[in-house]
Amino acid sequence: MQFSIETSSPFNPKGGRAATIAPTDCVIVPVYAQRKLGPAGQAVDALLGGALIAALARHDIAEALNSVLIVPGNDQVARVLLIAAAKAESADPAGQSAAAQTPRRRGKAASVTGPELHRIAEGAVIAPVSERAFSELSRAAFRAANTTGAKKLLSLLAEVPVGVERARPLAWNLQAQVLSAHDATYRFDRLRSTTEPRHEVGAIALAVPPADATAATLALRRAQATAMGVTLARDLGNLPGNYCTPTVLANEAKALAKRHGLKVQVLERKQMQALQMGSLLAVAQGSDEPPKLIVLEWRGGGRSEAPIALVGKGVTFDSGGISLKGGEGMDEMKFDMSGAGAVLGTLAAIASMQLPINVVGVIPATENMPSGRAVKPGDVVTSMSGKTIEILNTDAEGRLILCDALTYVARFEPSAVIDLATLTGACVIALGHHHSGLFANTDGLAADLLAAGRDTLDTCWRMPLDDEYQEQLKSPFADMANIGGRPAGSVTAACFLARFAKGYQWAHLDIAGTAWKSGAAKGSTGRPVPMLTQFLVERADRNSTPAHAAKSPATAAKRGPKPPSRGPVRAPRDGA
Ligand code: BES
Ligand code: MN
Ligand code: ZN
Repeated sequence: MQFSIETSSPFNPKGGRAATIAPTDCVIVPVYAQRKLGPAGQAVDALLGGALIAALARHDIAEALNSVLIVPGNDQVARVLLIAAAKAESADPAGQSAAAQTPRRRGKAASVTGPELHRIAEGAVIAPVSERAFSELSRAAFRAANTTGAKKLLSLLAEVPVGVERARPLAWNLQAQVLSAHDATYRFDRLRSTTEPRHEVGAIALAVPPADATAATLALRRAQATAMGVTLARDLGNLPGNYCTPTVLANEAKALAKRHGLKVQVLERKQMQALQMGSLLAVAQGSDEPPKLIVLEWRGGGRSEAPIALVGKGVTFDSGGISLKGGEGMDEMKFDMSGAGAVLGTLAAIASMQLPINVVGVIPATENMPSGRAVKPGDVVTSMSGKTIEILNTDAEGRLILCDALTYVARFEPSAVIDLATLTGACVIALGHHHSGLFANTDGLAADLLAAGRDTLDTCWRMPLDDEYQEQLKSPFADMANIGGRPAGSVTAACFLARFAKGYQWAHLDIAGTAWKSGAAKGSTGRPVPMLTQFLVERADRNSTPAHAAKSPATAAKRGPKPPSRGPVRAPRDGA
């Protein structure tokens, strides 16, 4: 899908009725409460001789939010896709008259979304929509557009003001459109022998006011990089265990490194033995597939700047091992490498943004299988840290591979370590499928991750990590057991990891409930790539001098005047 920023569009600064639109197959136009058009829609309407307002007056569009109506156009604009950004008859939130509401919004939002946009919005009835509502609106619009046969699209959704509690900048709006468009067109059909023809949209132009063109172009670049990372994570997650082995993950990492200028190293079983990774190797010993420890480095920041480390659980299939899982839904354990997929997706995103920050990705990759050589309940193993572990349940394998990766990652002297793991069914019981579970030994890191999650609608919820829970991991035979019983299962799993993460700031994201969907819409979600990418963008902004303080979608508004652009893209690893 090809995106572009379009400035010669119905976002006419004069609010005039003479819109100029480059020839297009379909224009997406938001419709507000009481079936009203905004200024951009009115301009398109004028172009089509009042066809839109006529259709709205006939109530051709349904009452419900996100209802769609396709109106035939002319030679220039083949069709218009009207989409309801509000319930047709909804009153404005404050219960004021529509006319009374406009000045309030105008004053508040003018400094945020760009003065140009809001000058043209004068006089229009546009109540802000929530972040989630906008994201769904965009998805519905692009999904509907895909069914029209249109190849070339112009979206006017940048007109919709987003954020009820705090107004979001234009960059936020654009990123949401890009991610929604990708989501609406995502298909995983690599493994089908025949595929239905793809007749979906090929090119999407996002209309913005001319004054916002520069900010919009940067926002678009970042949004596309994020979308690419999400798609990569989804593809890897969806790939089944017989395709996505540890070796394939390692090859994927190598290809990624080549594509985006990262450093990559893949440690083999022999090297893991030399490092005395007895815990990781214990999980791998039951499988015929060789384990891999994948290490990727993005050096976009200064030579001496401590990196942020991302550690992703890469169990390419989790059968449970000798503590074999039940049959029902076991296929979904192909998604047990989603943490690894998210590390690769996030690194792809930040590298393609050329983000000025140092990031290390570490992926312990293995299968968890039963066999004559498999580790058995009761076995005691020695981890790389020297601590011994009594393996009471071979299905609690994620923590066993992560603990050695957490010990290993200390050699990079990271400023923070974040691990991502589909670690416990208990986390799904605790939080369902909305929030990822967040555990952290540092409040600042937790706060930043929570904020990045809210900014991207890829949210997490902080969970406890008190020492009291550590009691549950006592073993009569080793330094610790690998399970802590049924109560607070996601907490004791995190407590196990915490013992290996004492030397640095650390956070653990249990993504068991968020990394994939079950049921009819079964498939990988690509979470938490949006949240992690946002977190790193924020960190990069915070670290860097104003010279490369490029703005992120969520915070652009807070920062006042625009900093100068970053200039030429730096080569990776120059450290300058
Ligand atoms: N990969 C699973 C966790 C999981 C299970 C994620 C179901 C999503 C859905 C993990 O390796 C596992 O098996 N955990 C066990 C731990 C238990 C044995 C202490 C679990 O959650 O049942
Ligand atoms: Mn398991
Ligand atoms: Zn697992």
